[in-house]
Amino acid sequence: MTALLDVRGLGKSFGALWAVKDANFVVREGELLGLIGPNGAGKSTLYNLVAGALVPTTGDIFFSGQRITGWKPYQIARIGIARTFQIPKPYRHMSVVENVVLSALLHQPNVTAARRDAERVLEEVGLSDYVNASIGTLTTGLLKRLEVARAIALKPRLILFDEIMAGLTPSEVNAMSQLVASLPARGMTVIWVEHVLRAIMSTASRILVLNRGEFIADGVPEAIAKDPAVIKAYLGDEAVHA
Ligand SMILES: Nc1ncnc2c1ncn2[C@@H]1O[C@H](COP(=O)(O)OP(=O)(O)O)[C@@H](O)[C@H]1O
Ligand SMILES: [Mg+2]
Repeated sequence: MTALLDVRGLGKSFGALWAVKDANFVVREGELLGLIGPNGAGKSTLYNLVAGALVPTTGDIFFSGQRITGWKPYQIARIGIARTFQIPKPYRHMSVVENVVLSALLHQPNVTAARRDAERVLEEVGLSDYVNASIGTLTTGLLKRLEVARAIALKPRLILFDEIMAGLTPSEVNAMSQLVASLPARGMTVIWVEHVLRAIMSTASRILVLNRGEFIADGVPEAIAKDPAVIKAYLGDEAVHA
């Protein structure tokens, strides 16, 4: 498989703190890659670097062979990288469906077609009952699902999910896991940061573990669950019990 994302020597410092330090990894087309690590490990910073929200202190990022280091977020979105935010960022003055229509308009010629797409995606994430709802009426769990819908509706080549399971019930977690698992077959490669380890362990094909800005493990879920360095990193962290 081709390298869709190739990250080399990537680092980001905030003053004396290296939030991400010398990160090297490759994501192949069609992968469903889990990215885990205790609070403050650098997961969101890594996403911000790949998505262009932060400029790296060191290193390079290549997407489909093209160097995208230092590109602006809108340029990175345009070449096919979508992300969700840990704290949802919908357009608050628009309805649920209008938020998703904006995404669908990227590849649909008119609002009617985009709305059809948007309603289909809202059904997939379990928001059919909230199509015309205003953003202010949504709970955290529903806002998370809207983030996922907005990202999927862009039909990106690479999608970065950041803690999309927070606030979901166990059965909703299962439904969301199935949805995430279906994306690679639809042409979307996935990187998924999640605190609900049960979901990511049963869904991801490979898992990277970040701790204090550095990768400490890379492997299949079964190996990661048994890795002493991973267990040590999580000791005392609530995430291991999630
Ligand atoms: N904008 C920032 N300014 C200063 N420190 C930051 C900033 N963003 C993140 N950090 C620090 O970088 C480290 C990694 O944070 P983050 O990437 O949010 O971790 P995670 O998403 O794994 O919980 C933390 O110590 C955090 O406090
Ligand atoms: Mg985070």
